[in-house]
Amino acid sequence: MKIGIDKIGFYTPSFYVDMTELAEARNIDPNKFTIGIGQDKMAFAPISQDSVTMGANAALQILNEEDLKKIDLVILATESGIDESKAGAVYIHRLLGIQPFSRAIEIKEACYGATAGINLAKDYVAKHPESKVLVIGSDIARYGLETGGEATQGAGAVAMVISANPRCITLEDDNVFYTEDIMDFWRPVYSEYACVEGKYSTEQYIHFFQTIWEKYREKFGKKLDDFAAICFHLPYTKMGKKALDTIIETAPSDVQERLLENYRLSTLYSRSVGNIYTGSLYLSFISLLENQANLQANDKIGFFSYGSGAVGEFFHGTLQPDFKKYIRTEEHAELLANRTKLSISDYETKFKQQLPKDGSTFEIDPSSDPAPIVLTGIQDHKRQYIKK
Ligand code: COA
Repeated sequence: MKIGIDKIGFYTPSFYVDMTELAEARNIDPNKFTIGIGQDKMAFAPISQDSVTMGANAALQILNEEDLKKIDLVILATESGIDESKAGAVYIHRLLGIQPFSRAIEIKEACYGATAGINLAKDYVAKHPESKVLVIGSDIARYGLETGGEATQGAGAVAMVISANPRCITLEDDNVFYTEDIMDFWRPVYSEYACVEGKYSTEQYIHFFQTIWEKYREKFGKKLDDFAAICFHLPYTKMGKKALDTIIETAPSDVQERLLENYRLSTLYSRSVGNIYTGSLYLSFISLLENQANLQANDKIGFFSYGSGAVGEFFHGTLQPDFKKYIRTEEHAELLANRTKLSISDYETKFKQQLPKDGSTFEIDPSSDPAPIVLTGIQDHKRQYIKK
């Protein structure tokens, strides 16, 4: 049975920071951010958006009535969860109006979580071919003002419907995964901000990629030539390129050219959004689909997923005959174009605005955020969400 991504969409909040302006404010050469790290804009989430609302906003645009009736498993992958106990997927299930005889859970393993969710969904659909599964990766990446990681922040969510006979891409069963207990990036429960060993994390990402690729090649006899493109998890857009560069020379020059050009196209959306952690790999896939007109049915796309801590995985998918009918190029162009640029001082002010941590009541004016699903405040320790 063919199983894979039937529909896919993303959401990013309505504010962004220009990376050249951020560099200038920090007395850094802008080329370091735009060329050295590879980021032009960084999405910023207002206080009315969190991992629940962004995930729900991403899913809202792709689901129809039939999906709402057939989805019976909702998986939210996030490393910016809003509760230590209740799954954000339960709120999302209600906000979207999914039929009640469903499971709704949250998954965590840094930026790898959505890949874990997809694999769980695939196994579930294999046993229940009539069911559909909603998998969401939704995160706000925060390292803090004037920190080394500041230029690699971002916010957004990707939502995917996993089903039998998918219309976008089948996901094959050639997964190779790898785990090693390392401390390259983590966020202790008492901290608002991630701890990151940036250089070490970069080294480990490459080490994981090489180790997994070698095993994949050995186990499945595949070569770079077999792939139309490889999508990467992108904490910043230079990262995947560093990994790809370590193996690209094993391919003939025309294949190298194709993979490098498709890599570039897969990073366009991340360049304008920044790191969205769990959704990042799948945002690369959306960017590739919507910016590379030459892709064809049956093209094979490789995926490299990496979650610090760390777990990595490589697998591939095959584009389906009508995949172009299910991409949302215009809507996504509009979403990115209609954002408001924040001045650096407005960004700093908004960055410092935090939800109360002492249990007090808090109200947010929903009209300040154009998103259809927003957080309107906290009452009796409960987050208040509405769909406008
Ligand atoms: N023009 C062009 N490039 C420039 C430059 C300039 N003026 N100044 C610096 N650069 C390049 C550097 O050469 C380097 O490129 P390289 O990595 O290809 O050698 C790049 O810009 C970054 O410079 P560096 O000095 O390494 O930056 P940094 O110490 O500020 O660290 C990160 C950058 C990305 C490591 C840091 O922002 C970080 O840790 N981010 C978090 C990453 C993360 O989330 N990891 C975990 C998830 S996988």
